[in-house]
Amino acid sequence: MTILVTGGAGYIGSHAAVELLNSGYEIVVLDNLSNSQTESINRVKELTGKDFPFYQYDLLDRVDIESLFEKYEFEAIIHFAGLKAVGESVQVPLKYYHNNLTGTINLCEVMAKHNVKKLVFSSSATVYGNPDRVPIDESFPLSATNPYGRTKLMIEEILRDLNVSDPSWRIAILRYFNPIGAHESGRIGENPSGIPNNLMPYISQVAIGKRDKVSVFGNDYETKDGTGVRDFIHVVDLVKGHLKALEYINKNEGVETFNLGTGTGYSVLDLINTFKSVNSQEIPYQIVERRPGDIGVCYANPEKAEKLLGWRAEKDLIEMCKDTWKWQSQNPNGFE
Ligand code: UD1
Repeated sequence: MTILVTGGAGYIGSHAAVELLNSGYEIVVLDNLSNSQTESINRVKELTGKDFPFYQYDLLDRVDIESLFEKYEFEAIIHFAGLKAVGESVQVPLKYYHNNLTGTINLCEVMAKHNVKKLVFSSSATVYGNPDRVPIDESFPLSATNPYGRTKLMIEEILRDLNVSDPSWRIAILRYFNPIGAHESGRIGENPSGIPNNLMPYISQVAIGKRDKVSVFGNDYETKDGTGVRDFIHVVDLVKGHLKALEYINKNEGVETFNLGTGTGYSVLDLINTFKSVNSQEIPYQIVERRPGDIGVCYANPEKAEKLLGWRAEKDLIEMCKDTWKWQSQNPNGFE
């Protein structure tokens, strides 16, 4: 069974590639390398002892995508490829709409043409906007507060429309909470270019001495210590959810949406303090203004994934912090 992994050189995609190969799947990886490096592909091969084809293709180039579907018989697609920086999406919305929407539409058109109708799509908890209570379940109202989030929401709707037009599609929409951590080997991990937008990569760059201190965006939220609360989930747990979703769509037609989170919220200071004590690293921080667009508290109700997929996150915050530091300390300059 060959699975096409779009965005397979990136942070989550590379971890998924390892898990798929270790579970006996054949894979083909496509990535335009706009925010990733081929070294991650080399590391996946080294970690698994398995070889697989890699194509530096862009989903915007339909001719290239067609050629892949002519060459291989894909069983299903796991679609990670997409732009994901919230701030950048506000600056250059058309780039986000063009890349994320057109890329996905191209992919689905080529899939339909070749009668490949199983898709696992990377969505985000960002589609819940500013929820009025927690934990968040899949039936909560959806909204978006920035172009990046809107692309995720629009793609979800496009996929539901697609299934209405042709119910033989089998689609799993996975809404990620906050993936952090790295493969336990320390050989692959998150490698943001430039100044990290997200909290965990920022903490680990402070630990390695690349940045002076973490700016904590606000301590006046209605939480136990005033800082934001999130559902941090180990990336290896997250990608295991994708394998379960593949099994699910093999058995079931239709579109189903799943939260992938742990169900537990930790604050920004919890994460900083856990990282500090687990790894014996000083993490200086400073409280600054809230970041515009942030919400106070966000964590999942993961019961649906447990019930229908037989999946639940297993790794705790300590492992997330330990594995992140192993990756960062062994690869101070990422994949360079
Ligand atoms: C962000 C995006 C979300 C996206 C997700 C994954 C925003 C508003 N949301 O989620 O759409 O799906 O990343 O890429 O950008 N924090 C600090 N200091 C920092 C960085 C973050 O205090 O330097 C705080 C934030 O205020 C928040 C928490 O840490 O309370 C987590 O932030 P982050 O890692 O950026 O994730 P989200 O904002 O939850």
